[in-house]
Amino acid sequence: MNADPVQEIPGGDAFPSITDLGATGPAQQELHRRAWTATRSRFGDSVFVRGVVEISNHCRENCHYCGMRRENRDLKRYRGRLDSLLELLVHRRPGSITDLNLQAGEDPVAVREIAIPLIQTLRRETPLGISVCLGTLSKDLSAELLEAGATTYIIKFESSQEALYRSFEAPGTLAERLSHIRWLAGNGWNVSSGFISGLPGQGIEGLLGDIQAALDLPLIGCSVSPFVPGESTPLRDASSGGFDPTLNAMALLRILRPDWVIPSVSALNIVGADLGYRGGLRAGANLCTINLTPTEMRGDYLLYKRDRFIMDEDRVLSAIAQEGLTVSRKSLAAFLAAQTQDHS
Ligand code: 5AD
Repeated sequence: MNADPVQEIPGGDAFPSITDLGATGPAQQELHRRAWTATRSRFGDSVFVRGVVEISNHCRENCHYCGMRRENRDLKRYRGRLDSLLELLVHRRPGSITDLNLQAGEDPVAVREIAIPLIQTLRRETPLGISVCLGTLSKDLSAELLEAGATTYIIKFESSQEALYRSFEAPGTLAERLSHIRWLAGNGWNVSSGFISGLPGQGIEGLLGDIQAALDLPLIGCSVSPFVPGESTPLRDASSGGFDPTLNAMALLRILRPDWVIPSVSALNIVGADLGYRGGLRAGANLCTINLTPTEMRGDYLLYKRDRFIMDEDRVLSAIAQEGLTVSRKSLAAFLAAQTQDHS
């Protein structure tokens, strides 16, 4: 299922290399052009548009990079209300979205009380494809989410460097996280993963290792998020991840996996000045996300900063239009289901 991550290209250099990852100027333009072409050959001019609702900011984990870590006492904790979320998603969702992602800190209570009943109703009353990003849950709870009707599990491995993973107190051990990803993929889920580019101490070799680690996993997609130092976190004074290496990592993933779903992430707007999010679309992204979290909850969903750049429907649709792209009418879930059938 996985392509061989290391390809030989004319001239004998391994691909991808640190040189590719550090590309700037014309070499970078060429890299992004190749990624763009690979994306268009596989997906045409359309990109998937999903909504995300951040249903709870309670979290039992303690990741140093994340503002929702359990030791952050500056944060007001919330769980969304099932009835108002249902009203929003069944009756008032933007017309452009075909899929919905439910996201939360690692909070099994919110999974049972909000996510599962929400998914059951949405599957009955809407055509939305459903993904979840809810952390490392028990096998039983994961199976209940699948049974309710979610089809994609988003679970980042964050960093492929064991020492970094451990020092930032990311969930469990790196080996456990990777094996959970494999378990999900072997038990009915489409799995999308991701890593953070520019984590303090990562280095460019580390970022290359993250790309290789992603390619070794049984995934349908992968995100690359630039590190943004979080308020009220132990990494608050660290520098942000770079825009260029983040885009280059996305482009390399796209070239090596033309079939993957690669999102453009809103943090690109924080590290990427004017181009921001659109840079992601130029470097091979084919998925955009509209933030639908009700405003009264949004401020406390603190991955990094309170003044994070919110991608509402207008901003997402205008980024897509500015890049000459269109919104897919087919849901990501339907696309993935058709792909699985082709391979069986
Ligand atoms: N910078 C970039 N990404 C972050 N995440 C959490 N904190 C940060 C940060 N400071 C990402 C992690 C996590 C996802 C929900 O958000 O990859 O899995």
